[in-house]
Amino acid sequence: MGSAAERWAELQSGRGVPPGILAQAPVSPWGHDPQDFTAPTVPADTPSRAAGLALLGPAGTVLDVGCGGGDAAFALVGPLTHATGVDGQQDMLDLFERGADVRGVPARTVLGRWPDVATEAGTADVVVSHHVLHNVVDLPPFVAALTAAAGRGVVVEILAEHPMAWLDPLWVRFHDLHRPEPATVDDAVAVLREQGVEPEVTRWDRERRAPHSPAWVTRRLCLPPEREPEVAAALEEIPPRPRSAATLVWRP
Ligand SMILES: C[S@@+](CC[C@H](N)C(=O)[O-])C[C@H]1O[C@@H](n2cnc3c(N)ncnc32)[C@H](O)[C@@H]1O
Repeated sequence: MGSAAERWAELQSGRGVPPGILAQAPVSPWGHDPQDFTAPTVPADTPSRAAGLALLGPAGTVLDVGCGGGDAAFALVGPLTHATGVDGQQDMLDLFERGADVRGVPARTVLGRWPDVATEAGTADVVVSHHVLHNVVDLPPFVAALTAAAGRGVVVEILAEHPMAWLDPLWVRFHDLHRPEPATVDDAVAVLREQGVEPEVTRWDRERRAPHSPAWVTRRLCLPPEREPEVAAALEEIPPRPRSAATLVWRP
C-alpha cells in the first residue's frame, strides 16, 4: 500500500468508536436511514450531475455504487437507459428500486459490499459513487474496481472532509474523546494519484440541508435518549454541518 493510501486508512480508522463507548450505546450508532436518502423529484443541478451527463452523452447505462436511494443515478434520467444500484443495505436497494419504478428507468440491484460484489454488478458506461468514499478504509481496491467497471468514466462526489467531523467537539464534550483530524478530499485525490489516476477536481458548495435532529446526533454519539436535551443545547454551540463538496471525474 502506498503512503497516501496508508494515511487514508489511518485517518479513517481513527473515526471508529472505541469499544468502551460502543458497549454503552443503547442502539447502534451505525447505519444510514433510508429516509434521509430519497432522491429528489427534480435533481439538484450540481457539477456531479453535469459531469455524468457529459460522459453519458445521448444515451448510456449507469452503475451507482453505494447507491442509497439513487440520488446520483436518477439525476441522470433522460439519457439514462439502465441503472444498476449496489449497496450494502437491502433497505437502500428497496428505495432505489422504487425510485427506478417511479421514473420508468429499467434497473437492477446488487446487495453487498463494493468491491466484493464488483463482478456480480458488471460494467456500465458511467460509474457514479456519491458520498461513499468516507465510509471506506481500504481505498485502492475500491477505486480500482470503480475504474474497471466504467466504459466511459467515473464520477465521484465527496464532502471536503469526513461528514461526521463537525461533531468532533461533541465527542470531546460528552466522552472526552479527542479524535484525529478527518480525512479530506485532498487525501482521497492523493490516493487516486498514487494509483496513476489523475481526476478532474471541481470544488463547490452543496445546498444547505435540514440539520440532523438532536435525536439522530444523540444516537450517533452512543448516548441514551434522555441526554437529547443536552445534545440539542450543545448543537447550538458548534458551527453548522459544512457544505463544501467536490466532484472527482476520471476516464478509464
Ligand atoms: C452516505 S450514503 C450515500 C447514498 C447515495 N450515494 C447518495 O449520495 O445519496 C452511503 C451509502 O453507501 C453504502 N455503502 C457504504 N460503503 C459501501 C460499500 N463498501 N459497498 C456498498 N455500499 C456501501 C451505504 O449503505 C449507504 O447506503
